[in-house]
Amino acid sequence: MSGPTLLILYGSQTGTAQDTAQRIGRQARRRQLQVHVMPLDQYNVTNLILESLVVFVCATTGQGDPPDNMKNFWRFLFRKSLPVGSLSRLDCAVLGLGDSSYPKFNFVAKKLHKRLQQLGASLLLPVGLADEQHDLGSDAGIDVWLASFWKKTLSWYPCLSDVIPLREDEPLPPTYTFHFLEDRIEKADDRLRIPTERTVDSHLFPAKMLFNRRVTDLSHFQDVRHIEFDITGSNIEFTAGDVVSMRPRNTAEDVQQFCQLLRLDPQAKFILRPTGNTVVPARLPQPCTVRHLVEAYLDIAAVPRRSFFELLSTFATNELERDKLVEFSSAAGQSELHSYCNRPRRTALEVLVDFPHTTAELKVDYILDLFPEIQPRSFSIASSLKAHPHRLQILVAVVCYKTKLYKPRRGLCSTWLASLDPAQGEVFVPLWVKKGSLKLPKEKDTPVIMVGPGTGVAPFRSALQERTAEGRTENVLFFGCRSESKDFFFRSEWEDMKEAGHLTLFTAFSRDQEEKVYVQHRVKENARLLWDLVASKGACFYIAGNAKQMPASVTEALKEAMEQEGGLSVEEAEQMLGAMEKTGRLQSETWS
Ligand code: 2AM
Repeated sequence: MSGPTLLILYGSQTGTAQDTAQRIGRQARRRQLQVHVMPLDQYNVTNLILESLVVFVCATTGQGDPPDNMKNFWRFLFRKSLPVGSLSRLDCAVLGLGDSSYPKFNFVAKKLHKRLQQLGASLLLPVGLADEQHDLGSDAGIDVWLASFWKKTLSWYPCLSDVIPLREDEPLPPTYTFHFLEDRIEKADDRLRIPTERTVDSHLFPAKMLFNRRVTDLSHFQDVRHIEFDITGSNIEFTAGDVVSMRPRNTAEDVQQFCQLLRLDPQAKFILRPTGNTVVPARLPQPCTVRHLVEAYLDIAAVPRRSFFELLSTFATNELERDKLVEFSSAAGQSELHSYCNRPRRTALEVLVDFPHTTAELKVDYILDLFPEIQPRSFSIASSLKAHPHRLQILVAVVCYKTKLYKPRRGLCSTWLASLDPAQGEVFVPLWVKKGSLKLPKEKDTPVIMVGPGTGVAPFRSALQERTAEGRTENVLFFGCRSESKDFFFRSEWEDMKEAGHLTLFTAFSRDQEEKVYVQHRVKENARLLWDLVASKGACFYIAGNAKQMPASVTEALKEAMEQEGGLSVEEAEQMLGAMEKTGRLQSETWS
């Protein structure tokens, strides 16, 4: 083959961009192109000047930031010293994945596209802007862009037009083959007792869990956990606003069901051999047991993506099942797939159960192509090293809700965390810490106003512990929950801080009376105090929580406070908020 080698580089936070990059990789392989697919930060950027054809697939995260696995690349690419024209040999294309309900929709992809042009690269086509909100999981929008990408590529590289693409209904060779070893393991894995992650990720620390307490009343609808880890000897440092990440594991029940469906022995040991130019994932020990692979690596409990159906359909021999799977893989079947999978949050494992004939045909070699890797989850750190040296605490709501499916849906990480019981024996959780997006003021005298309903209070507990330890006493907290008696987290701690004169606390118990009372109502009621703090004392204002509408409502309440107490016009208040946002004096962090 004399065509170009296609390099597909991705920046992915939740795995969608990675899945898309791999999908493009498969399309390229069907066209018999040489392909490399990798995360941007694994690629040596200085080689970019030598490449001929590159596709960038980039997600944009919450505040218009690049995903973690492209942060180094991002920094490098925007160096002022890079000469204009240095990428003049490069043909490339940029596909962005974003969510138009966020203000900086696809910001990363747009900015990357511009920068590549500035550096002299030839862009094959306009930047692709897939939208999670409108394209049913981004896929439909991606299709249109991809079709145009291939059309352009074939016209720019005529040698490729002679290649007859491989049939779409036959699977490509798997990325890895499994070589099972003779000796099965003697006893069941000593699961969480010994950290099994390889220490290739040198920043991973196996932290011992010290306690795992339910902090909501038993009659409350939700189980919320306050969890503490021992990080002695880890060199981990963090300040208020930072986050801790960890990878959850599948439940024993799911692992067992998966192994049964695929007729795999959980105890069997195997070695993975790459079939092409990939390497074995660093997180998988070699040899590895089937149990470890399924429990710690394969994301079988997530809602499967379209590529899952694409690959699954190539194994189907049963006509009914094949037709359905082919439909789910097609652009036209995306809304059907959405109703079947995304809306009711059906898991990949449940899909396997729904397609028994196809599942029986599945070859084990393909399971790493079929299931993505379990992604790490992040939590705001809820404690300060100043109050709890060598300790790291989090506050986790155990996610559980009903859809039209019989079994309730459970969050993988929170369910896994809740299941760990240090009272039953030592538990270690490999974790690492990252800088968060919330930045507290460095200046000693700056007051802070924090609005954190529910688990949104976590980073503010860290901030309050830090600030009171430093003698910074001008702190205002707005806390909201459903009921004073059921989910008022850390109540006694706030009371102690109040008594010591370190905290002004406002609470909103939404369901303790007829009318809903939310934090934004309390913000509005305390307009005078807030205006004084913000306008005369330069206070910083923070919002955190998991209700999507909440930050906008709180910001609106603050704006009204400015109009009412400061006598500002609507435009002036908006200007002031904009300026505060720009200078980091108004920040928010939300999660779902
Ligand atoms: P609710 O469940 O009674 O609606 C923590 O979850 C608190 O945040 C709860 O009291 C919850 O109230 C409240 N909450 C839910 N949606 C909100 C919103 N849009 N703005 C502010 N608070 C909200």
